[in-house]
Amino acid sequence: EPGAEKWVPHDGGMRKVRATLGDCRGCELWEDAEQAVAGEGPVRSRMMLVGETPGDHEDKEGHVFVGPAGRLLDRALDEAGIKRSDIYLTNAVKHFRFEREGKRRIHKTPSAGQITACHPWLARELDIVKPALVVIMGAVAARTLMGPSFKVTQHRGEKVELPDGGTAIATVHPSAVVRSQDFTRDLGLFVDDLRAAVALLD
Ligand code: URA
Ligand code: SF4
Repeated sequence: EPGAEKWVPHDGGMRKVRATLGDCRGCELWEDAEQAVAGEGPVRSRMMLVGETPGDHEDKEGHVFVGPAGRLLDRALDEAGIKRSDIYLTNAVKHFRFEREGKRRIHKTPSAGQITACHPWLARELDIVKPALVVIMGAVAARTLMGPSFKVTQHRGEKVELPDGGTAIATVHPSAVVRSQDFTRDLGLFVDDLRAAVALLD
């Protein structure tokens, strides 16, 4: 089992993480993606939000949450009174996974093996930022942070302890809200979870 571990620097802080992430060959996802997308935000953030993987826009632009999910997240953060510039925003898996359908690149959920392979990068970010609270957004972030049996739908909005130490709260992924058949309700529930996160920090 290779995984990212041997590419992750254990000195040099976030600057070095960002400088070395693109060299990672810990799984096969680097081959077809344009680039690895590093987390963003102050290294002293008290809150870290963890999504899934870069999408099509993120892969092209090299920044987290700049596509449709990012716009939804921005709106929800705003409604919850959270400044994007105050939080550290990252993904469970750093390269885009997709299938080609003609000219389109269709997002595919990363496999359990890819999620495990990429975990050392997220572990290093957690080690550097040491957030007071991690917001787990969706099933992929939940798998890498809480293990395979944790169900976001059962625990959303609850305070949970991370197995590796630290406090977290789980919610859905903003893409799930974008696609929702009951958009207003699901946006409201997502904002409620973000407000619960803010309350846990107070
Ligand atoms: N979805 C994610 O989980 N992360 C991004 O950066 C974009 C979409
Ligand atoms: Fe490395 Fe993660 Fe990219 Fe796989 S997805 S190559 S483990 S950075």
